[in-house]
Amino acid sequence: MVLPFIYHYATNGPPEFVRQQARPIIYATLAIAVLVLVKLFASGRSNPAERPLHGKVVILTGGTTGIGAKVADELAARGAQLVLLTRVAPSDPFLSEYIQDLRDKHDNQLIYAEQVDLSSLHSIRKFATRWIDNAPPRRLDMVILCAGTLTPPGGRRMQTEEGVEETWMVNYLANFHLLGILSPALRAQPVDRDVRVIVTTCSSYIRSPSLKEQFDDGSWSPGVAYARSKLALTVFGWAYQKHLDSYKRPDGLPMNSRVIFADPGYCRTAGMRRWLTRGSLVGLAIYLCGYFWPWLLLKSPEKGAQSILYAAMESSLGRGEGGKLVKECLQVDFARSEVKDEEVAKKLWEETDSLIEKLEKAQAKKRAARKAEGEKAAKEREDKERSEEIDSLVSAIKKGKAKEKSKSRKKDKDRDKEKSKGSDKSDRSDRSDKSVKTKSKKKSKKLDS
Ligand SMILES: NC(=O)c1ccc[n+]([C@@H]2O[C@H](COP(=O)([O-])OP(=O)(O)OC[C@H]3O[C@@H](n4cnc5c(N)ncnc54)[C@H](OP(=O)(O)O)[C@@H]3O)[C@@H](O)[C@H]2O)c1
Repeated sequence: MVLPFIYHYATNGPPEFVRQQARPIIYATLAIAVLVLVKLFASGRSNPAERPLHGKVVILTGGTTGIGAKVADELAARGAQLVLLTRVAPSDPFLSEYIQDLRDKHDNQLIYAEQVDLSSLHSIRKFATRWIDNAPPRRLDMVILCAGTLTPPGGRRMQTEEGVEETWMVNYLANFHLLGILSPALRAQPVDRDVRVIVTTCSSYIRSPSLKEQFDDGSWSPGVAYARSKLALTVFGWAYQKHLDSYKRPDGLPMNSRVIFADPGYCRTAGMRRWLTRGSLVGLAIYLCGYFWPWLLLKSPEKGAQSILYAAMESSLGRGEGGKLVKECLQVDFARSEVKDEEVAKKLWEETDSLIEKLEKAQAKKRAARKAEGEKAAKEREDKERSEEIDSLVSAIKKGKAKEKSKSRKKDKDRDKEKSKGSDKSDRSDRSDKSVKTKSKKKSKKLDS
């Protein structure tokens, strides 16, 4: 069928219609070829690495949407035990359905969620201390930091309840705090385990203002805040590797926990959509009308997950030094020397440490004051309830007594009445006796006469 068709065209040339429309057909073919090439290029490389993950324990942030959800899906498919750190409680109906779907899809029951609001230092501490307090130390093979936030362009500077700018808190401070507390758990893993901490970075860190520069509220803008948080995260990740390496294991063997940075590239996720649409309905309408362009130029979340999966599974990344950066499933170097600047890292680490200490102390005080207030209010409520109860009891007793009194008064009255009735009767009987007596007297007199 195909060969005669080719033979026909080879001997007779293309049909008349094609000959007449040759130019438009060539242009259209070229345009389609360019589009396909652009799409393939923009979609990036696919992960070529594989690694059995059965029984491996993975803590994953941001695993419910966007790139993180695709990472969770792939890891669950390979049998990993997933601990999803989610903003909402596991009892949330959408979350429990999501987890059940993952379990059913991959026949993997080892997936569960822990509520950790990354905008709260207290929430992170509660989870992480519970994790490290476990005796014997819990198995931990991977921590994947995929959660992130951004303020859309033109948006207002948002603060967390603890008074930290939201982007800085979720993208940087939360990861610093979580890894800081989990550090003993990572260092305690047996040496035969290939332990990885995967930090999701973004190429926006390249254009961030230097961390050496003073950054105040006046220089804040959504783009700068996001880029700066990612630069700080990258600098911290690098320093964290040094912190892990400096640990002297009791067995004298080298550190087996490695930090790996993964840049997913620009993807069509909820976060990116919020950025492109400026978080407005009009923006969303324009985005949907011109959806062709994001579809063409941005990766799908699946494609965005590839570099993270590569970082999780590529065997060469589990050997040698940590602190490598993966982009398009390839090892690349950092585009900024500041990432490896020890002075910057030291200053950032110390400042962050003291900021967290200050915030945690302030929050602890607030919580204690709130607790004391709550206890006081509860005691006052209890006292009020008790006095109300006593009052009602007293009034009930009073009412009861009053009732009894009125009853006894009524009884007395009835008795008096009965008495008076009784005396009337006796009077009447006396009177009748007397009349009987006079009558009999009269009769006897009559008889005598
Ligand atoms: N998309 C891109 O083009 C792109 C490019 C480069 C780098 N990245 C990085 O890749 C990572 C994933 O990006 P994405 O676009 O997939 O993000 P996304 O769609 O915006 O999802 C962000 C995730 O972070 C979670 N999260 C946000 N705030 C949280 C909080 N306070 N507590 C707990 N969880 C919180 C979200 O949970 P909820 O579901 O509860 O909101 C969500 O699961 C981010 O670190 C991002 O910076 C993305």
